[in-house]
Amino acid sequence: MEIMRFAMPKGRLVEQTVAYLHRAGLLDVDTLDVGRRLVVPLPGVERTLGISMELLLLKNADVPTYVEHGVADIGVAGTDLLEEALPDVLRPATLPYGSCRIAVAASEDIREEDLRQREVLRVATKYPRTASQWFASQGQPVELIELGGSVELAAVLGLSDVIVDLVETGRTLVENRLRVIEVIGHTEVKLIANRALSRRRAAAVDAMIAALNAVSERGNA
Ligand code: PRP
Repeated sequence: MEIMRFAMPKGRLVEQTVAYLHRAGLLDVDTLDVGRRLVVPLPGVERTLGISMELLLLKNADVPTYVEHGVADIGVAGTDLLEEALPDVLRPATLPYGSCRIAVAASEDIREEDLRQREVLRVATKYPRTASQWFASQGQPVELIELGGSVELAAVLGLSDVIVDLVETGRTLVENRLRVIEVIGHTEVKLIANRALSRRRAAAVDAMIAALNAVSERGNA
């Protein structure tokens, strides 16, 4: 049986994407009990798109890799990540959720004046390209400290002077006593697709996007 694979970052986007697929009439359920599974069938997709589909639950940064290599046909990835990794994938749709700010943030205890006086600012981030481009445009020399997650801790414990990270609700900053110094960009969540899909798979992706867009339009009306 032919199966399409849909690569998803584990975490909050799973819930939002499952609910969105359900609203678009593509999926029989509005929540999925994923548990610890890494491959999860999507019930109802075969009936609606004519081809079965399963979710692959991956680390955020690995989603474009699976799609670029064609192990997954489609995936969900933020522009933050796409602009760092520059994968050779199509970006056929923008999803109407998951947008974030990209911000420079620091501990509430550090004065901005002290930060301005640093000759070389120590910057911890998961987004070294975005961060170095921003500080270069400001003429601020930096020492980049690349981390894989929980970046806020670097500013809390003094591994870095500031962080460059995503802010969605702002809760992580508040609960760790950090504050935004400057918003330097915005991200969107994209549906990405492999460049060499078979005609049948490409048609299923087109039908999926049409159904998703119809929901967004109804939502905006
Ligand atoms: C992201 C981001 C922040 C947090 C922001 O981390 O890096 O830490 O979400 O969200 P908030 O403003 O709603 O609190 P993610 O959950 O992807 O985990 P990570 O720290 O492992 O990267």
